[in-house]
Amino acid sequence: MVLDREDSMNAKTIALLELSNADFNNIRTLVHENTGIALSPAKRELVKRRFSPRLRALDLPSFGAYVDYLRSNFAQEGNYFCNAITTNLTSFYRENHHFELLQKQVLPQLLKTKRQGERIRIWSAGCATGQEAYCLAITLLKNISDTQRRDVKILATDLDENCLAIARKGAYPNKEFGTVSPDILNNYFAPEIVGTGQKAKSCYTASHKLKELITFNKLNLMEPWPMKGQFDVIFCRNVFIYFDKETQLQLLRGFAALQQPGSYLCIGHSEIIPNPAQLGYQLIGKTAYRKKQA
Ligand SMILES: C[S@@+](CC[C@H](N)C(=O)[O-])C[C@H]1O[C@@H](n2cnc3c(N)ncnc32)[C@H](O)[C@@H]1O
Repeated sequence: MVLDREDSMNAKTIALLELSNADFNNIRTLVHENTGIALSPAKRELVKRRFSPRLRALDLPSFGAYVDYLRSNFAQEGNYFCNAITTNLTSFYRENHHFELLQKQVLPQLLKTKRQGERIRIWSAGCATGQEAYCLAITLLKNISDTQRRDVKILATDLDENCLAIARKGAYPNKEFGTVSPDILNNYFAPEIVGTGQKAKSCYTASHKLKELITFNKLNLMEPWPMKGQFDVIFCRNVFIYFDKETQLQLLRGFAALQQPGSYLCIGHSEIIPNPAQLGYQLIGKTAYRKKQA
């Protein structure tokens, strides 16, 4: 799903403001400090497109004035600023090989080693609008007959509040379900018309049994993580591709600290862990890693 951005619509009609080198660099620094995202010099036009309508809306005459505004009002403007710069592209069963791995190897392994009632925890880190988390929930329900007795839960986090609102609602336009089998659609989603009048859209909405497995929470991966427990599986896919090497390593160290030997980590198709052994991981399949026994 590509999130409709209020400003990208406006950007077509609003003239873009000039962006000096100094202001662009200040914005890049603020983006990096607050999201971990390393904007390359090629993203200059993107910054102009995404923020020019915002400057107009705030009645600010220049990017320099916006940088000053951000520095003194980050508590109010920070959310908008971070949300506007993230890329939220996602879809159902994106990189399906990870869901196959879950079904064929990960879940059978966990069911064998976990005692009845012992927690099974999965984290979708950078879940965007939630499709990844719903696919995880479907895979769990299809493969674990007694999810409640087994205490199985998915935590899905993102820094973008707009994405999380969509994820919590769990209603997606019909056209997004091309990669979803009719069987899954019928069992786990219900048709619904969302909106009224000209804005009415035919959607499918995730069922209660999916929603009750997932908790969607706001979490900026660059800030301290409140979770104390361990995760048997972490999906962090197509998130840290946007970070620089040092930030990627810091993030991966954080994941490693939350995983016991035998746990799994799945990353996106363009992401790599240069030295997995150093973090205690071993490559076990396409962009899938397992924490090694000590
Ligand atoms: C391209 S989407 C990936 C969605 C999904 N994991 C997938 O592979 O389809 C990247 C997501 O990472 C989130 N993100 C980027 N930087 C983040 C940060 N510092 N903390 C938390 N989420 C972040 C963005 O908001 C965006 O929703």
